[in-house]
Amino acid sequence: MTDPIVYLNGGFIPLGEAKVSVLDRGFVFGDGIYEVIPCYNKKPLRLAQHLQRLQNSLDAVRITNPHTNTQWQAILTGLIDKNGLGDQSIYLQVTRGVAKRDHFFPKDTPATVFSMTNPLATVDTHAFSRGVAAITLEDIRWQYCNIKAITLLPNVLLRQQAADRDAYEAILIRNGTITEGAASNVFIVSQGIIKTPPKGAQLLPGVTRDLVVELAVANRLPCQEIDFSAAELFAADEVWLTSSTREILPVVRLNDRSVGPGVAGPVATRLCAIYQGYKTDLNRGTIV
Ligand code: PDD
Repeated sequence: MTDPIVYLNGGFIPLGEAKVSVLDRGFVFGDGIYEVIPCYNKKPLRLAQHLQRLQNSLDAVRITNPHTNTQWQAILTGLIDKNGLGDQSIYLQVTRGVAKRDHFFPKDTPATVFSMTNPLATVDTHAFSRGVAAITLEDIRWQYCNIKAITLLPNVLLRQQAADRDAYEAILIRNGTITEGAASNVFIVSQGIIKTPPKGAQLLPGVTRDLVVELAVANRLPCQEIDFSAAELFAADEVWLTSSTREILPVVRLNDRSVGPGVAGPVATRLCAIYQGYKTDLNRGTIV
């Protein structure tokens, strides 16, 4: 297998040649932020929204954006062109750069910019209707979950607990209220109403989440951005996860109990079809 091409600090190079100093603050402190952008048929989905969230994360951690949006776009295009066709998920990471270990921000240190692309599995209708299992766990993370920080140790520990119980995702509860998944946003359907928690510091403002809300509203499906309790989650007719890499993913088992009839529900199935239609329009160039 040929070495994929990655982007590091201004150049496109084979993955095996991409090296970062051990003093990089991403390595030493987890001092950086990231983005994951899905690309279908070479076209990034919701690029403007991903670049805006990248900017918001950089502002929140006080790292100057090293690139203009046009430069970011050139990095994405370069990676897509150099790594071949097919749907891709592009990972972008910016850290506070390389400096002697000291908690204080270093002066005049350029940020480290790294980007890679990985194949994105297209939606398989059988896997969709089979859905996944999830468990609920206490949200042990910090108070700035809206920042897409690379410091993901709590998320890693939470998701591994899910894996240890043969589940795909951990759905997180803070003060009795659902926040999100360890690597996804959460939706429920209750008495015909789609609900997802409102945006705020307790969850990542998912780009997929926003698109799903937008598509639900545009298709006149009742949808509320509203907090819901763990009890409401357990009683829901449908539970789904959303993320850039998994789009809409039905949860059919929750803490070893069936959600609804134990297969993808009708609202998730409808919205998934609408979402696929949106991607087709994107590919045809009918939307940007
Ligand atoms: N994760 N919440 C968390 C904590 C996440 O890590 C993610 C995505 C989401 C969904 O956001 P979006 O729809 O913009 O992908 C919500 C990515 C995919 C990851 O860390 O790999």
